[in-house]
Amino acid sequence: MILIIDFGSQYNQLIARRVRECEVYCRIAPPDIGIDEIKKIKPEGIILSGGPSSIYEENSPRTDESIFDLGVPVLGICYGMQFMVHALGGVVNGAGKPEYGFAELEVKIHDNMFSGIEKKTTCWMSHGDSTESLPEGFKITASTENTEIAAVSNEKRKLYGLQLHPEVEHTPLGRKMLENFIFNICCCEQSWTMKSFIKEAVEEIRNTVQDSHVILGLSGGVDSTVAATLIHRAIGERLTCIFVDNGLLRKDEGAKLKKVLTEHLKINIRFIDASEQFLTALDQVTDPEEKRKIIGKIFIDVFDSEASKIEDVKFLAQGTLYPDIIESVSAFGGPTSVIKSHHNVGGLPEKMKLDLVEPLKYLFKDEVRKLGTELGIAEDLVWRQPFPGPGLAIRVLGKITEDRLEILRQADDILIDEIKKSGYYRKLWQSFTVLLPIKSVGVMGDKRTYENIVAIRAVTSNDAMTADWAKLPFDLLGLISNRIINEVRGVNRVVYDISSKPPATIEWE
Ligand code: XMP
Repeated sequence: MILIIDFGSQYNQLIARRVRECEVYCRIAPPDIGIDEIKKIKPEGIILSGGPSSIYEENSPRTDESIFDLGVPVLGICYGMQFMVHALGGVVNGAGKPEYGFAELEVKIHDNMFSGIEKKTTCWMSHGDSTESLPEGFKITASTENTEIAAVSNEKRKLYGLQLHPEVEHTPLGRKMLENFIFNICCCEQSWTMKSFIKEAVEEIRNTVQDSHVILGLSGGVDSTVAATLIHRAIGERLTCIFVDNGLLRKDEGAKLKKVLTEHLKINIRFIDASEQFLTALDQVTDPEEKRKIIGKIFIDVFDSEASKIEDVKFLAQGTLYPDIIESVSAFGGPTSVIKSHHNVGGLPEKMKLDLVEPLKYLFKDEVRKLGTELGIAEDLVWRQPFPGPGLAIRVLGKITEDRLEILRQADDILIDEIKKSGYYRKLWQSFTVLLPIKSVGVMGDKRTYENIVAIRAVTSNDAMTADWAKLPFDLLGLISNRIINEVRGVNRVVYDISSKPPATIEWE
């Protein structure tokens, strides 16, 4: 495996992605990981990531310099290279020429890092500081116009530095450079497959859980479903899933899930219908944040009271993913949780005094989908678009009533049906309908109507942090609009939301 030491680069997840695309396992660790821990992990190679700091800043991130003496190949990228140069006696200049954007890289020495790379290639640079002089035993292997020392190596000690960013798409041969490091220099094998992951994860879950019981809150989304299936494979009957129907689900959602998970995968699930409790508490509530708070609190109460009926429970399982736990820019304090407060079932583990089992915490979303397929979960579930915890409560804008929920359910069902038929479902991050809290005038069969408006929201995105409105074909939008107006009673107008995030958000509330 490859260990990535995170100096706070915005690209550290991307480095991890690239390594895993080579079918080699990798982990991201904070700089204070400590040499003993690294020895225990036994990485075949270490990558020092870039970062926003300057090596001469007082609090710039550092890692134990004895990593360079382990005999393990090290690749320093950007700040990572400067850290290496500085630690081994070279000089980094804070007042050099900064370089941001595309640059032409000229390879001077085709060492193992540059084997198979053309003499001149484009690369992506993003640095203020530059290396001024090299530590002993190092050579300059590539330069750009502004940065003479753009790549260095000490082949004898298997230490390499790239001032450029090989992990970004803008460095077209960056993948080749990383492959050279991973395979030619570190001699890694391609062993990171979902099959091997399942085997190791099952063992680890068994070791952690021993004879006790685990509970898991099943939402019907990909992450919790995959986590449940994996844990079920490890401990079978000792996993109990709790599915809380909050009355804010989409059409037939609970029933469909019940069928797939209990019949097909034979997982032990308790279905709790708490819809009345939720809807009563939400009566007359219009403020979105208040809706979220009420829903979150009732969820915890319902879950807690159901869980307390199960004996011997010591663990709470969650479908937390890697991007939820790795810090984005705070390289200094170790992994800090960046989960948006509304994205986890806040407070559950503390309240219930349970230890956590999070078997997906080192996976990215697309890896979770691959894992789900490998575990035999139906395509339909594996490829589900995300659905927010508060469900339709934040899509029925303003006051929530049974009637309004029903209108939205029908409209949403039509939208999803047509989006799936058109082949767009997997291309979109999310697609859904929103029921507006105002009415508009229309005319149907010579009669004046005064009815509801439904908005269609469809976005493309990689991570929901930013999103673009989807350029769906007009014919498709027309078809959806026609069907909604004709088939859903109480709707006489459909509009399409053409705002991106930011400044809008994906959800309307
Ligand atoms: P926004 O609306 O903030 O949404 O652009 C970003 C992503 O988060 C989802 N979302 C939520 N998920 N509880 C959740 O579990 C929530 O309260 C919540 N609010 C938004 C949204 O569907 C999108 O994928």
